[in-house]
Amino acid sequence: MDKVISETKRWVEQQLTAEKTGHDWYHIDRVYKMAIRLAKEEGADPFIVAMAALLHDLADDKVVKDEQAGLDRIEAWLDRFHVSKSDRLHILTIITSISYKGGNGEKLKTIEAKVVQDADRLDALGAIGVARTFQYSGAKGQPIYEPQREVRSKMTLEEYRHGQSSAVHHFYEKLLKLKDLMNTKTGKKIAEERHQFIEVFLEQFLLEWGSPQRGDS
Ligand code: ADP
Ligand code: NI
Repeated sequence: MDKVISETKRWVEQQLTAEKTGHDWYHIDRVYKMAIRLAKEEGADPFIVAMAALLHDLADDKVVKDEQAGLDRIEAWLDRFHVSKSDRLHILTIITSISYKGGNGEKLKTIEAKVVQDADRLDALGAIGVARTFQYSGAKGQPIYEPQREVRSKMTLEEYRHGQSSAVHHFYEKLLKLKDLMNTKTGKKIAEERHQFIEVFLEQFLLEWGSPQRGDS
């Protein structure tokens, strides 16, 4: 168990060192540590949670071009360490189901999936969430803010991924919604604190901009 986890850490780190859209190795490492913490509190299987957290971005359509090829590589990696078929399936299902996808994501069935999703979402909140949003926006060529732009309330996955937006809009279109979407009690508590920080950040940002507060915060 320990060997497959430590080897997986090295494998993931190698692949994500050059990542510039907020999914670098340090993101994975934070999500992994948070997921282990939540798994303890929630009584989730620590092996499944550890592996799914470490591998969760390797098949993401923002990180790799071909999602299916990403999943096949993960499956082959798990097979190499003789991870059982049912554990492999559980880990792959978590990886494919936890993404937000503009609010079009699926309902999660296991406590392990819920824990990993909460850990990933917590890394989009707080000071680190602010930093990642601006890094992602810079990488995609989005402006930091456009005051005249409408906040989109409902979007298809296509609009969420490829529609025009700004970094500050992303807070209203996704990040401020996350605290009410948390699955676990511990996750929700940490999300409330980090949400608070984002509210303070946005208030100060809009004050300095000389722009009125956006309505739906
Ligand atoms: P998804 O939930 O769609 O899988 P991620 O959680 O992987 O997206 O997003 C990773 C990081 O990139 C997060 O910190 C998130 O805030 C940021 N991000 C994602 N989409 C955007 C966007 N359109 N504009 C700004 N930041 C974004
Ligand atoms: Ni992630």
